[in-house]
Amino acid sequence: MLVPILTLLLVTSVFSSVDVRSRIDCYPDPDPSSNACSARGCIWEHAPEGSPTKTPYCYYPRERGYVLKSTAGQTYTLTPDSSTKNPFGTNIDNLPVTVKNNGKTLLVTIGGDDRYVPPVGLPMNPSTSSDSLTFKVTTVPSTNIFAFQVTRQSTGTNVWDTTIGGLLFAEKYIQIATYLPSANVFGFGDHVHKQLMRNLTRYTTWPMFAKGIAPDSESDLSTQNLYGVHPFYIAMEADGNSHGVFFLNSNAQEVTLGPAPHLVYRTIGGRLDMAFFPGPLPEQVVQQYLAHIGTPFLPAYWALGYQLSRWGYNSLDNMKAVISRVQAAGVPLDVPYADIDYMNAYKDFTEGDKWTGFPNYTDQLHQQGLHMIVIFDPAVEVDYDSFKRALQQNATFIEWPSADLVPHNIQDQYPMAKNTLVMLGNVWPERNTAFPDFLDPTNQTTQWWTNEFVLFHQTLKFDGIWIDMNEPSNFETGTYSSVGSNLATAHLSCPISGAAGQLDNPPYATRAVYDHSGEHLCSRTLCMLGKSARRTMNFFDTKSLYGWSESRATNAALRQMTGRRGAVISRSTFPSSGRYAGHWLGDNTARWEDLQTSVINVMDFNFFGIPYVGSDICGFHGNSSEELCLRWHQMGAFHSFSRDHNTKGTPAQDPAVWPSVAAAAKMVLTFRYYYLPYLYSLHYASSRYGGTVVRPVFFEFPKDSTTQKLDYQFMWGSGMMIAPVVDKGVSSVHVYFPKATWYSLIPINYGVVLTPGYLDVHAATDSLTPVFLRGGYILPRQGANTTTTASRKNDLEVIIGVDPSGGSNGELYYDAGDDLVDDIESHKRHHWLFSFTYTSTSAVFSGLCEKCSDVDIPPLSIIEALGYPATPDFNSFILNGNKVNINVQLSSYSAITKRLFINTPKLIGLRTIASPFTLKWNHSS
Ligand SMILES: *[C@@H]1O[C@H](CO)[C@@H](O)[C@H](O)[C@H]1NC(C)=O
Ligand SMILES: *[C@@H]1O[C@H](CO)[C@@H](O)[C@H](O)[C@H]1NC(C)=O
Ligand SMILES: *[C@@H]1O[C@H](CO)[C@@H](O)[C@H](O)[C@H]1NC(C)=O
Ligand SMILES: *[C@@H]1O[C@H](CO)[C@@H](O)[C@H](O)[C@H]1NC(C)=O
Ligand SMILES: *[C@@H]1O[C@H](CO)[C@@H](O)[C@H](O)[C@H]1NC(C)=O
Ligand SMILES: *[C@@H]1O[C@H](CO)[C@@H](O)[C@H](O)[C@H]1NC(C)=O
Repeated sequence: MLVPILTLLLVTSVFSSVDVRSRIDCYPDPDPSSNACSARGCIWEHAPEGSPTKTPYCYYPRERGYVLKSTAGQTYTLTPDSSTKNPFGTNIDNLPVTVKNNGKTLLVTIGGDDRYVPPVGLPMNPSTSSDSLTFKVTTVPSTNIFAFQVTRQSTGTNVWDTTIGGLLFAEKYIQIATYLPSANVFGFGDHVHKQLMRNLTRYTTWPMFAKGIAPDSESDLSTQNLYGVHPFYIAMEADGNSHGVFFLNSNAQEVTLGPAPHLVYRTIGGRLDMAFFPGPLPEQVVQQYLAHIGTPFLPAYWALGYQLSRWGYNSLDNMKAVISRVQAAGVPLDVPYADIDYMNAYKDFTEGDKWTGFPNYTDQLHQQGLHMIVIFDPAVEVDYDSFKRALQQNATFIEWPSADLVPHNIQDQYPMAKNTLVMLGNVWPERNTAFPDFLDPTNQTTQWWTNEFVLFHQTLKFDGIWIDMNEPSNFETGTYSSVGSNLATAHLSCPISGAAGQLDNPPYATRAVYDHSGEHLCSRTLCMLGKSARRTMNFFDTKSLYGWSESRATNAALRQMTGRRGAVISRSTFPSSGRYAGHWLGDNTARWEDLQTSVINVMDFNFFGIPYVGSDICGFHGNSSEELCLRWHQMGAFHSFSRDHNTKGTPAQDPAVWPSVAAAAKMVLTFRYYYLPYLYSLHYASSRYGGTVVRPVFFEFPKDSTTQKLDYQFMWGSGMMIAPVVDKGVSSVHVYFPKATWYSLIPINYGVVLTPGYLDVHAATDSLTPVFLRGGYILPRQGANTTTTASRKNDLEVIIGVDPSGGSNGELYYDAGDDLVDDIESHKRHHWLFSFTYTSTSAVFSGLCEKCSDVDIPPLSIIEALGYPATPDFNSFILNGNKVNINVQLSSYSAITKRLFINTPKLIGLRTIASPFTLKWNHSS
């Protein structure tokens, strides 16, 4: 017993020891040791048995950091404590900390205007909230080390508290740490994780640096960073209030989530640009975040239809056969896809030999009311017309910083590239490719990209654009240490030593690199020393913005090419990507684990302002199975982006392969199509006001702590809850019903009220996904057909979930469906606010038009109410003071099931009726 105490005494004689739960790792790079730790001026102390997993042995003393030098208003100037060492550089002196309020958003910036800031032009609109956050300067206890607290005004809770210490700021190593008010943390991405709530018990480091790598949902804990970067989290305090924090930074970065609870954020460039959002409701946190970064684009209505894709159709004939058999099976289908096999040798803006007739086929699909989306990769081969036109039109590409670094053995093979600095890589095309510089501030690159689309679209009339490989991904990026050795290969090779290698070999290369032996920052991508933004920026800083910038350029191209709204989906994303594109969750695998994590990741991407998101249904890699593919359709039909997609060389997995899957897909997609006006209205609300579409149950029931643990149940807005099967071999789902009135929408017990608490709900393979309507809500819907084009010809309906303790409300947004949205506020639409109230003798359904433009809208012909308490008098209906005849043959009420069904064709002409309208009737119990 004596030895450990002595060790402790030795340590405390210089610095005070830090509890195993709140250490800040001083050796996040590989191979820590006692000596190396001391050399960094840090404390080396083993963690006793029972300490949290991965407790760092080498950690920063609390007594070190920055001290406050001067204060001028809301700007604080810091100077490094004289004894502080930054293991990865020299701490910058005169470090400014500036604090601003933007509405209720609190902005804290650490680092000067000379630092790199991601050129993403965020709107940064001020937020509103019933609560506020205040900023207070303090010190680390018993020291003079600078710290600050961000405090919720209404409760005094510190949502941030940097008295844990550890602030460092060198040229290429920036670190900040904070205590968190609770371990209930959600968000950060792009990662797969097995619970919606992040696990803070085990010092897990999550890297954030865009990377083209398949998600690994199979292992218990896969911390690899995926395609996008989202340094944003939501935390729920002990009392159920929520706040959010965003770091605007595009450098290679990471966050360690620790058990204090605390977090340590590290980045190797830029500065600390933090935005704090006060909530206090989780949905308000997302709205405040989206006011800051920008709200998502509104997808075309047809883009909410079911989509079918595969890589490896290999020929148009095969694609046609698959589409035909799915249609013949009666499965609703709106969007066939073509993956890279439609191209000639994988070159953008070309068509392969086996695809003769593709334009004609696309026209035929259009005549059937379908739409076509095709894929494009960013990199273009440097020996054909598209590249030639790029040079002619003064587009820029990612370039080498200087001529002496250009590998002439590769470059000189290409007459057009030979005398340029364009950095050549290799993607799908057979020969070398160049990567367009979408950050080009002159917009000439976007203009060329747009022109290519316009030109190609003259041949093939596709409607939406799928952009892949935009992390950007490069195949087999090599490295070299001595000049000349880069000439050995046809592949890109990056310097990793000497002056040229500094950016690929920074003092701290981040866990994204250290976690995979042999990796560098340039692995699978371009060299960090590359130049972007027309040579004004380093690829080292902007790499994670590549997909974001391609999304912006492609959205502009789509607009100009079709003059329609359509949709763009992108693999790589960054905060505010949602303004331009949706996202699919990348190259998943046909495994149950991937079905499970996709439910979680779709909620994450809704936090990130990218609600048009979904997974590859049935799984991309690997062979899918009948049961998995069936269950995945039953779940994926409830994701905004709903697409079955498959890789090359694996058996077909379209729903028509198995009669059971076709039947299940038909059933669930018909339900989806029925409720698409609701889903579309949710997307409209998110586009206009920010917020989520698919959201976790806890967003709606923040004071019910059980809801925070619900990983696989989710909501459509506030009014519908979905509890899909995500496990093999089961026929029911253990569903949690928070305190509310819930009505089953499943055919076998339609309209039945489900009592709060846990309940096993029937979920056979041949029944509908468990889905429930919440009392108090009115959802719009429209008779389903097998395309959205045909569905939109049917009359509109509403379903009312009667709340025994009050009224019900809901909204309908309806517009032309595919016209361009220049300004969501003034966009031509019908936006109705519906409400329903009742007394012991009568009921009123009313509508108020928030904005009704000159746009076609079908009439409202069906009003259904679940939980309706009394027998209506069908002869008593009065619309705006005039008697209306209810069609009593088509209408019904059951006192046993308490279902009221009012069906009268053209009951309410939403196109022409005066607003507000009221429909009143009498009832008796
Ligand atoms: C968090 O991780 C630890 C260590 O792996 C594990 O024991 C614990 O069950 C996890 N907590 C949750 C809520 O999953
Ligand atoms: C397009 O396809 C239709 C149906 O197969 C065919 O009748 C027509 O001749 C084709 N048109 C062209 C221009 O190939
Ligand atoms: C290309 O763009 C650059 C930067 O805007 C400009 O200086 C140059 O004149 C342009 N060249 C041509 C041929 O348009
Ligand atoms: C380039 O395009 C962006 C985004 O559309 C726009 O904000 C900017 O003003 C344009 N710049 C130039 C030089 O035209
Ligand atoms: C996947 O399907 C292919 C084609 O049917 C088959 O050859 C292969 O063995 C299957 N692989 C697995 C792991 O089942
Ligand atoms: C579906 O659309 C087709 C073609 O417009 C139409 O003939 C059919 O009646 C529609 N069916 C339903 C159920 O709406």
